[in-house]
Amino acid sequence: MSFSIETIKNRHSVRNYKPDKIVPDKVQQINEKIAELNAEGNLHFQLIEDVGKTYNKLVNRTMGLSSAPSVIACVGPDDDTVEQRIGYYGEKLVLFAQEIGLNTCWAGIFNRNNIDAEIKDGERLVISIAIGYGKDSGKPRKSKTPEQVTEVKGEKPDWFVKGVEMALLAPTAINQQKFMIRLNEDETVDFIDKGGMFSQVDLGIVKCHFEIGAGKEIS
Ligand SMILES: Cc1cc2nc3c(=O)[nH]c(=O)nc-3n(C[C@H](O)[C@H](O)[C@H](O)COP(=O)(O)O)c2cc1C
Repeated sequence: MSFSIETIKNRHSVRNYKPDKIVPDKVQQINEKIAELNAEGNLHFQLIEDVGKTYNKLVNRTMGLSSAPSVIACVGPDDDTVEQRIGYYGEKLVLFAQEIGLNTCWAGIFNRNNIDAEIKDGERLVISIAIGYGKDSGKPRKSKTPEQVTEVKGEKPDWFVKGVEMALLAPTAINQQKFMIRLNEDETVDFIDKGGMFSQVDLGIVKCHFEIGAGKEIS
C-alpha cells in the first residue's frame, strides 16, 4: 500500500461533519482496509457506523466532533507496543479514508463508556478516529521546523529530508510534535518520544508519514 505525498498534504483534521451516513460502497472499502491492517499489525480496529454518543463530552461538542456520523475504535492487545502500532496503522487508515473522499480526526478525548466497540479480554481501547464527510476539508496549521525535530551528524540524504518533511505534516495530539528523528552514522533512523499525552500514538503516526516521504520502510 502506498500513499501519495498529495494525500498527506491535503489531509487536515476535520471536526465539523455533514449528517450524511457513509455510503455502503465506502463502508465496504474501509472494512476491507481495516481487515488488512488488523492482520498486518495484530490489531482490532473497528468501524462503528453509528457513532451514537461517543462524542457527547462538552469539549467534543464545543470543538464540533459530536457532528461526526461514524467512528473507528482503535483497539488492540494490551501489550507494550500497542499504542505505537495503533498510530502507525491507524494513520494508514486515515490516509486511505482521505483518498476515498472521507475526512477524519484522531480523538483522544471521547466518551469511552458510549463507544459501541468490542473489547475482548486482554485488549485495550487506545483511542478513536472520527470519520465522515466534512463540512470543509480542514486547514493547514503551524509546524515546527526540520531543525527542531532532527538530530543529524553530517550530511542529510535526500530521502531523510523528504521523510522529515512528511513527518512534520503528521497529526499529533494538540499539535505537540514532541518527537525527535535521529539519523545515525550507519544511516539507520531512530524515532524518539519526548513525552506528552498520546506521544506513543503520535510516534507511530510520525513513522508512517516519514516512511511515505522517504520512500522506504524503517525497521
Ligand atoms: C493522538 C492524537 C489525539 C488527538 N486528540 C484529539 C482530540 O481529543 N480532540 C480533537 O479535537 N483533536 C484531537 N487530535 C487532533 C489534533 O489536534 C490535530 O491532529 C493537530 O492539531 C494537528 O492538526 P492536523 O491534524 O490538521 O494536521 C488528536 C490528534 C492525535 C494525533
